[in-house]
Amino acid sequence: MNIREATLDDMIPMQNCNLHNLPENYQMKYYFYHSLTWPQLSYVAEDEKGRIVGYVLAKLEEDPAAEPHGHITSLSVMRTYRRLGVAEKLMTQSQNAMRDVFNCKYVSLHVRKSNRAALQLYRDTLNFTVQDIEKKYYADGEDAYACRKILRED
Ligand code: ACO
Repeated sequence: MNIREATLDDMIPMQNCNLHNLPENYQMKYYFYHSLTWPQLSYVAEDEKGRIVGYVLAKLEEDPAAEPHGHITSLSVMRTYRRLGVAEKLMTQSQNAMRDVFNCKYVSLHVRKSNRAALQLYRDTLNFTVQDIEKKYYADGEDAYACRKILRED
């Protein structure tokens, strides 16, 4: 398994992986927007044949109301490659780039309340904390946990 920075050529296989694994899907232009604007923040996992089996799609949140910070837009790993540490490695690479390239103080993300696997990954393995519950955040009405992790102490 090889983990590397995502390139524009990876956007179609990343979208394909996303469509397999999550109900939150995005237009191709949104993938390109991430890769063109913050090429350092998104990563892919490829198998020995170069097929994309996992990805993290990430960006910088530049809302003037908050301190600039990293944000995980989407993360998924194909079913047969799960529980091998792939997601943890993808997340760590992206978080390191947020801190080292963009000097981000923290990283944020949303996760469904019912998504126990992802919640365990974020909270127990990666040390995110739940900041808030955002009611009916998802299109089907499910609530989200808004999670955050400090990347550098001042
Ligand atoms: N049940 C319980 N804990 C889990 C599970 C699970 N199914 N999967 C991962 N974890 C936790 C464990 O603590 C695990 O460590 P361990 O295997 O030593 O016990 C740790 O997370 C690290 O797991 P990884 O192997 O790195 O995770 P994996 O590569 O399997 O990917 C992911 C986890 C991304 C949640 C995967 O199950 C997936 O793609 N699910 C569907 C898509 C999804 O839910 N994505 C996240 C949505 S939120 C967002 O995108 C911001």
